[in-house]
Amino acid sequence: DFSALPVVPEGTFAAPLKRPVHLGEDWLEPKQREYDSGDDAIWDALFARQMEILPGRACSAFLAGLEALDLGRGGVPEFATLSEELNRLTGWSVVPVPMLIPDHVFFWHLANRRFPAGNFIRTKETFDYIQEPDVFHDVFGHVPLLTDPTFADYMQAYGRAGWKAMQRNRLKALGALYWYTVEFGLIREAGGLRICGAGILSGPREAVFSLEAQSPNRLMLSVDRAMRTDYVIDDLQPTYFVIESFEDLYRQTVERDFNEIYNTLPPGFTYANAAVIDTDHVLHRGTQEYHLRGGRG
Ligand code: PHE
Ligand code: FE
Repeated sequence: DFSALPVVPEGTFAAPLKRPVHLGEDWLEPKQREYDSGDDAIWDALFARQMEILPGRACSAFLAGLEALDLGRGGVPEFATLSEELNRLTGWSVVPVPMLIPDHVFFWHLANRRFPAGNFIRTKETFDYIQEPDVFHDVFGHVPLLTDPTFADYMQAYGRAGWKAMQRNRLKALGALYWYTVEFGLIREAGGLRICGAGILSGPREAVFSLEAQSPNRLMLSVDRAMRTDYVIDDLQPTYFVIESFEDLYRQTVERDFNEIYNTLPPGFTYANAAVIDTDHVLHRGTQEYHLRGGRG
């Protein structure tokens, strides 16, 4: 008897996320928004700040991609120009979206070699941290690596994998893999560990923390392990996974049949975000001092 249900007072729940009326099923903006000189200045300041930190810390493919796409030419880059260049290199393009888009739409774009990038840029007030990915995170953080042919193929395959994971109810696990590779991955290079994750590359703090702090664990990537591991959304990570190369990542994921993983995967995460287990290949066992102090700052 539904009439017996208590009436929920208005304003108890946040308004549901509604798609703006001008958007179609693809969630794409008809064109990239116009930026004013204040927006361009924010891009330039963010760019300059990262370039103080990233040489010697970002992986070589990322730095090469930044140059190839000339992302430091000044102001928010034009997606059309970027896409032309990217398209020549690896067949990818960058398309404007107004906000985070639903998972299945995101996967569909990736599977078609389109990277959906947030249209908007953060303000002076949110200069240091925003939770919603803006054009700086998306374009500066993600797009340079799409110039690498192997990484470009991985991203497309990930899009296809997303569809399957949704049907098999394994999105949480596949999402953890994305988190620990695309967003917060490290890579082993001849000169030492380097950053390849966009979530690290687009901010100043974690770029130093992830490589140099004693606090976090640094473990060689095992796909089965990472997919079972919880993570932190709004603070520095307690654990980073390290890949040997993009070919290594490709072999562990694209060339592996995930059905065998999905068949044995429990519904929730098995490992805490700070855990180290017997089977881990440990490069650095973290003290976890940062998170033990309570994190955030
Ligand atoms: N090869 C995986 C499968 O069989 C798909 C996959 C590709 C997963 C790329 C992650 C990244 O489902
Ligand atoms: Fe991202």
